[in-house]
Amino acid sequence: MPLKGLLLAGGHGTRLRPLTFNGNKHMIPIANQPMLVYGLRHLKEAGITDVGIILGPITEGIREAIGDGSAFGLRVTYLVQGEPKGLAHAVIVAREFLGDDPFLMYLGDNLLEQGPKEYLDAFRGGEVSAVVGATPVEHPSHYGVVELDRDGRILSIEEKPTAPRSNLALVGVYLFTPEIHDVIRGLTPSRRGELEITDAIRGLNERTHRVRVVRLWGWWKDTGQVADLLEANERILASRSPPYFENRAEVRPKARVIGPVRAGPGTVLEDGVTVQGPTVLGARVRIEAGASVGPFASVGDGGIIRRATVRRSILLDDVVVDLPGTITDSIVGRGTRIGERPGPEGGRTFVLGDASQLSI
Ligand code: TTP
Repeated sequence: MPLKGLLLAGGHGTRLRPLTFNGNKHMIPIANQPMLVYGLRHLKEAGITDVGIILGPITEGIREAIGDGSAFGLRVTYLVQGEPKGLAHAVIVAREFLGDDPFLMYLGDNLLEQGPKEYLDAFRGGEVSAVVGATPVEHPSHYGVVELDRDGRILSIEEKPTAPRSNLALVGVYLFTPEIHDVIRGLTPSRRGELEITDAIRGLNERTHRVRVVRLWGWWKDTGQVADLLEANERILASRSPPYFENRAEVRPKARVIGPVRAGPGTVLEDGVTVQGPTVLGARVRIEAGASVGPFASVGDGGIIRRATVRRSILLDDVVVDLPGTITDSIVGRGTRIGERPGPEGGRTFVLGDASQLSI
């Protein structure tokens, strides 16, 4: 029976406002690639050809970037959930698409170092009704938490418990057999009003005792908040192998490139600038005199950086930075201009969208 893919790209993404007011959270670039593409690649790596993408209230950019999936060697079907009523609700929305096939469900805001191999091995290795992944975390009460016995069997599963019974968080990748549908049909909304996937997994395990937990060896990042995005950007750039760092920029004789730097066509590094890797610059970027970029900077297409030092930050397309001083740990939305022009009476002048964050 073929394995299908279910990639979740719904939700409000409230914790990433203002970036998520007019754009879908999963389109935010990590190392200049939409976050969703990483999950899509893992589904492809699992040998999957049919992927359903769950769309929520903000869909901007997704269909344009992914299309029918053929650019990724996949067949993509869009499934409209609308209001985010929970991860298990997304499975109900996908019910017809999934049919009676097993499926790998991937939360679009989860980034994993390792691919799906361990899940597939566990699935093929014996009679299972689901395979879930777990990894130790510092603050388990922020996650779904699983408690295991010595043989790795599930003792308890709780969603965001106030008194966690272990430090093992459930990651946002799950392999389900169609047995899950019947369990989800019987669920009722949790205290936060959602149909919880942790309730479904617990219910399935109580019924079959055949939910397998695989322990992840690689890093895992749930990119719900700004700090997580920056950390994911850093980890992805740090883990890229040398062929990724193809530098197609025009590097002027007195520009300095230190460490691995990827740059797109039409990009210019002017005399006197420094670009320190790992860093990625898009196409038609200009790093101008006095500027220093990196390490761990991702600059989208058409960016201009003049005079400033930009470190450990994500700049979306067409951002202009023109001021002396250092910008770090920042995410800057498309078309933003950060400059230095005193307002009336030497005051600072801003035009900031709702829920912007400014630290100066
Ligand atoms: P969450 O992080 O729980 O929610 P969110 O992305 O809306 O963010 P916030 O809490 O800041 O408002 O969602 C986890 C992932 O699952 C994310 O990729 C969005 C997706 N999702 C859906 O597709 N449908 C849903 O009903 C829910 C709750 C989440």
